[in-house]
Parts: sequence; C-alpha cells; structure tokens
Amino acid sequence: MTAERAAELFKGRFGGAPDGVWLAPGRANLMGEHTDYNDGFVLPFALSQATTAAAARRTDGRLLLCSRQEPDDVLEIALAGLAPGTVTGWGAYAAGVAWALRSAGYQVPSACIAIDSDVPAGAGLSSSAALECATALALTELAPSELDGAPVPRGELAAIARRAENEFVGVPSGIMDQSASLLSQADHALLLDCRSLDRSQVPFDPAAAGSRLLLINTRARHDLSDGGYGRRRAECEEAARLLGVSSLRDITDAADTARLADPVLRRRARHVVTDNQRVLQVTGLLRGSPEDRPDTYREIGRLLTQAHSSLRDDFEISWPEADAAVEAALAAGALGARMMGGGFGGCVLALVPEAASGPVRGAVSEAYARHGWTAPEFLDAVPSDHARRLA
Ligand code: GLA
Repeated sequence: MTAERAAELFKGRFGGAPDGVWLAPGRANLMGEHTDYNDGFVLPFALSQATTAAAARRTDGRLLLCSRQEPDDVLEIALAGLAPGTVTGWGAYAAGVAWALRSAGYQVPSACIAIDSDVPAGAGLSSSAALECATALALTELAPSELDGAPVPRGELAAIARRAENEFVGVPSGIMDQSASLLSQADHALLLDCRSLDRSQVPFDPAAAGSRLLLINTRARHDLSDGGYGRRRAECEEAARLLGVSSLRDITDAADTARLADPVLRRRARHVVTDNQRVLQVTGLLRGSPEDRPDTYREIGRLLTQAHSSLRDDFEISWPEADAAVEAALAAGALGARMMGGGFGGCVLALVPEAASGPVRGAVSEAYARHGWTAPEFLDAVPSDHARRLA
C-alpha cells in the first residue's frame, strides 16, 4: 500500500489532496490464541498487508468516510451524535474510534477519510483492527494537539481502538490485534502480557533461518460477532470463577484444570493454560542462541502443531478446511502449522522450510480440490513495522 495510491483515492472521492496518509498493518499471531482476554500472553506480529487512511480536516462537525473496498458508500456521520448503535457496517470501526477518542477526552476533528486496504476481510488477519488503528492515527494527528504536539501514547491508542470494537461495534475481543498493529517492529514478534500490558520485542526473522511463514486463507469466512467467540469468552470466565481465580492467567499448571467437574470447561481452561505456556516457550526459543537456529525452528513448528490440536480438540474452534490445510501442509514438509485467530474461519499459519514452500502450497491446493472447496489463497507473513504516517 502506498501513499500515492491512498492520495489518488482521496482525490477521486473528495477532491484535492489529503493533509496526510497513515498506514496500519494487519496482524498474524505466532502463538497464544484466546489468551488475551484471559489476562495471558500473546506473541503476534504485524503483517506487510495493511490499511491506509488518507485524511483531511474539515470544519463542519462531520466525518466523511469512503473506502475503495466498499465503492457504493460515502458515509456522512455527525460527530456530535455519535453513540454505540448509531453507525453499523464497516463504517462503525472508524466511527467507533472517533467516539472512543472523544470518550477518552481527546478532541476529534471533522475530517474526510479515504480508506484502502490489502488486508483480506474475514480472513482473521485483523482487517478491523487495521482500519481502527489507521483511523486512530489519522484523527489524533490531524487534531490540534492538547498535548503540545506529543502523540497519544501507542499503548493508550490500542486501548482506545479496542474500546471502539468492544463498545461501539459490539465485539468482545481482547487487546492483541490493536497492540500488534500499533506496537510491532519489523523482524520481531511482540510479546505482550495482557494483564500488566508489559511488552517486549522478540527477534523473529524466519527468512534468516531458511524458513518462511505461510498464511493459508482457508476461505471459510471468520466473523467475531457471530456468537462462537463470545461463548468461548464466557466459558473461560466461568471456568476461572469455578477455579476461584480472577482469570485463567492465574492457573499455571494444566493439572489444576482437572478440578473443573464440567468436561467442556476443563478442556477450555486447559487450552488457555497450555497456550500461555507455549507463548513463553516460543519466546524462550527465539531468544536462545543463534547456533541452535535449525532446532529452534523445528521446535517452534512442533509447538505450532501442538497448539492446533489444542485449539481443535480442547477449545473446539477449528473448522474442516483448517484441519485439512494443517494436515496437508505437515505431510508436505511444513515444520508446523495451526489455525490462527478467533476461530471458526480465517487463516492457517504454517512454518515452512524455504524448499518445501512450493510442495506445501501444492499439497494444500490438492486437498482442497479433492474436497471440492474453493481454492485457498496463499500469503506470505513477513514480520513488519507498526502503524505509521506515510505522507
Ligand atoms: C481475535 C480477537 C483477539 C483474540 C483472538 C484470539 O483476533 O480480536 O482479541 O482474542 O481473536 O486469540
């Protein structure tokens, strides 16, 4: 995504040049699913696929929004009347950010914003967080600053964007996606403690170790608002309550989940506890000595595949296309693979030695053809930089 392409879209819809262009990436997650809202650990990274917002100030109290991906809509939203429920559809993610910024005490300028994105929607790559974060940067950097020109701290901006999604859009997601988009660094994964919000950059450059990360868009659309995600969240809260802890983060020994009488809650809790452990294990491996690299990546692969079993059997959020893609990728030489994100649709993440990249794509495509499914889409997941101003 380029500043020129964003500016051209802006000019075509609103006339003239934007005051600025901002970009926010989508994300992948190396390890730690459904751990963020359990106060646990996650290890996501920003993708090179991203959303741009080309924006200019106005003076009429309105937000005008258009998107290359939604060519039929130009939304006009009165800033004064913004409240949850007043905007629905894709515009709610951007309008929700304006609402959440105002609720946090920031001045939100009237603006026209032209959105463009190459993060596929519904693929579990956080196209929604990318839209929120691009909008958040645009609106805060267009606003006359109350902070003497100091930008809003990134961690706070992530919390504001999450609030837009939770309270304005109505999706009960955690803090991972917005944090990954705003705080990641190229060639690193972001280790985030979702309780303390402590974070650190973990060196992560699979290409340097002769591997690559492949995203397999399984073509089963993923939608966080369809109920499955919220049910898992409620089950985790119930499991924590029955175990007498404030969140599942407090359980560090998987054996303790055996105290849950209900087998479903026991499985849910076991996934969260073991996935938290896997995040810390992968972090330890990546921080280990470079001489161990070949083994490091083999071991990370093993943990990815183990996480898939946990997500499929204990958390029960995998789906047939993901299971088939994981199986085919492993059979064709992937070091490891797992479903990624909220579940019930979206992408599989596979760690693949460079030489096996072609065979893995071929094997997954063949498995899809055998099932008669729409062909999968393959994307490279390259650990990239955080959201930023482009122009
Ligand atoms: C979605 C949510 C995140 C996180 C993941 C699962 O991406 O937005 O907050 O819960 O699912 O790990």
